[in-house]
Amino acid sequence: MITIKSDREIELMKEAGKMVSMTHQYLKKYIKPGITTKELDQLAEQYIYSLGGVPTCKGYEGFPTSLCTSVNDTVVHGIPSDDKLKEGDIITIDMVIGYKGYQGDAAWTYAVGKISDEKKYLMEHTEKALYEGIKMIKPGAHVGDISAAIESYAKKYHLGIVEELCGHGIGREMHEDPEVANYGIRGTGPRLKEGMVICVEPMLNLGTSAIHVLDDNWSVKTNDGKPSAHYEHTVLITKDGYTILTPRLDEEEEC
Ligand code: CO
Repeated sequence: MITIKSDREIELMKEAGKMVSMTHQYLKKYIKPGITTKELDQLAEQYIYSLGGVPTCKGYEGFPTSLCTSVNDTVVHGIPSDDKLKEGDIITIDMVIGYKGYQGDAAWTYAVGKISDEKKYLMEHTEKALYEGIKMIKPGAHVGDISAAIESYAKKYHLGIVEELCGHGIGREMHEDPEVANYGIRGTGPRLKEGMVICVEPMLNLGTSAIHVLDDNWSVKTNDGKPSAHYEHTVLITKDGYTILTPRLDEEEEC
């Protein structure tokens, strides 16, 4: 069932989304060679609580930490550890924050120091694929329109699309209907309506799309060992289009 959020629920989801944006922005300055992913997780957790939010991933189906930290060939769901980040790594930080029972969810891939041109290419085009998908959002559009836009963009840039994992509706629960695949056919799937909230989240690989799950039962890695990037926004469907509830707070700086 796809839920339609009331005005009050939308206000709470905006707050949750803002906390996600602020936590990403807060962490950004710590993403440097030498810091461990566990240290990043602890910083995030304290900050989230200081904002009045709850780190929803912690304890979700047994996931142990507040952040998912996925380095290089880890696609998603990397578990923070004592491993130190190194110059040239890329790391995806994915987090879900609950506020008064409503969730916000966003993932960004970050460069650690100076990275290779191929990693820059992967990051740039995965982020652009996310916005190509989001651009399709408006009442009456089909979920498949988002999927098809992401697929065609990823294919144009010869990136491997992770097919086993997808975006999702969000609200009281981190994962609600509908599923938002990163490949698909225009004009298919449920229609979007004003008041729905969905997460769009392409996971793209520099190599092939094949992945496997590690023995920790969480970390998803590429089979060919090549790097993977992941960008995700929580997006509200509005009367005329959409509003991103997890905007990047550093966008001006980066332009
Ligand atoms: Co998500």
